Amino acid sequence: MTKRERYEAFLADYRLLIADEDDRICLLANTSAALKEAFGFFWVGFYLVNDPTWLHLGPFQGLVACTRIKRGRGVCGTAWAEAQTIVVPDVDLFPGHIACSSASRSEIVVPMKASGGEVVGVLDIDSDQLAAFDEDDREGLEHIVQELMKELSH
Ligand code: SME
Repeated sequence: MTKRERYEAFLADYRLLIADEDDRICLLANTSAALKEAFGFFWVGFYLVNDPTWLHLGPFQGLVACTRIKRGRGVCGTAWAEAQTIVVPDVDLFPGHIACSSASRSEIVVPMKASGGEVVGVLDIDSDQLAAFDEDDREGLEHIVQELMKELSH
C-alpha cells in the first residue's frame, strides 16, 4: 500500500471510531492511540490552547513530554501562531525546536482549527528518523484533524 492508501484506509476506520462521541478527552485519547497503532509513530499527541499564551500537553502516546509550550515557540507554538501545518525534515535545523526527546529527528505539526478558523490546539507527531514526513502525511493528517474537528463541533 502507498502512504496515501494507508491514510485513506485509516480514515474509513477512524470515522467509525469517532462517530457518536463528542467528549474532547475521549476523542483525542483514541485518536492518539489509533494513529500510533496504525502508523507506528514514535510520538503522537495533542497540545491544547489553554489561554492566549500557552499550549498545554493533552492526550498522547509515547515518551513523557514537555507540558507547556509558549505561542510562537518551537514547532508547535509556531504552527499555532501561523495557523498552518509545519513539516520539519530535520529538527536540528528548525530554529527554536523544543527537544522533548533527543531521539526525535523529524516532526509534523497540524493545527486544530475550530469552525471560525481559530486554532484550539495542535496535533504533533515526531519520528526518530530524518525526513519521515512529506506532502502525503500533511494531506492525510490534515484530513484526519478536519474529521476530528467536525466531531468536536457537534
Ligand atoms: N518538538 C516540539 C515539542 C513537543 S515534542 O515534540 C512532543 C516543538 O518544538 O514544538
